[in-house]
Amino acid sequence: MVRFAEEYELNRVNELRKQVNDLHVAGKPEIFKPGFPEELREFVHSIWNDPDKAIVVAEREGEICGFAVLHHIVRPETPFMFVRDYLDVDEFGVDEAHRREGVATEMIAFIRAYAKEAGFSRIELNMWEFNHDALAFYEAVGFTTYRRYMEMQL
Ligand SMILES: CC(C)(COP(=O)(O)OP(=O)(O)OC[C@H]1O[C@@H](n2cnc3c(N)ncnc32)[C@H](O)[C@@H]1OP(=O)(O)O)[C@@H](O)C(=O)NCCC(=O)NCCS
Repeated sequence: MVRFAEEYELNRVNELRKQVNDLHVAGKPEIFKPGFPEELREFVHSIWNDPDKAIVVAEREGEICGFAVLHHIVRPETPFMFVRDYLDVDEFGVDEAHRREGVATEMIAFIRAYAKEAGFSRIELNMWEFNHDALAFYEAVGFTTYRRYMEMQL
């Protein structure tokens, strides 16, 4: 079952956030801070209290095994661009012990239905290029790449 989180579940959400953070640290150690310090654990409460954000969880047999952070973003018009108003999937992950069981697919279906219902016309997310598993998943559920970040190490 996929639904919005309850406040008492935020510690469990943090366990899953740590798994995602560890993966990012391993893949991009020059960018991501190692460990999962107090500051990062506390950040879940800022997310919880932000009216533009929401936390989604997936539950299997009473256990939270997946989570997503949604963020309603509005970027004002610029000389180059029209107003952009969309739902961003800010953080996303499934417990290592429950991968390849369709949990993430179920979460995307929930997020998609919610976004449609709320009147959004686009869902967006960004991901790190090293994360081949995530890319395979996002493409499998229908996301396409529309923009790239590039770098050159000096
Ligand atoms: C990416 C992730 C969310 C996928 O979650 P999941 O619940 O295992 O995904 P699903 O079981 O719904 O997978 C659906 C389909 O996506 C594709 N897919 C998922 N994981 C894949 C992988 N590791 N390699 C290749 N394809 C994959 C497959 O087509 C899969 O269907 P199948 O299992 O029938 O072959 C999960 O691996 C994860 O949490 N990774 C670590 C955190 C992360 O990378 N988060 C996203 C970036 S912030």
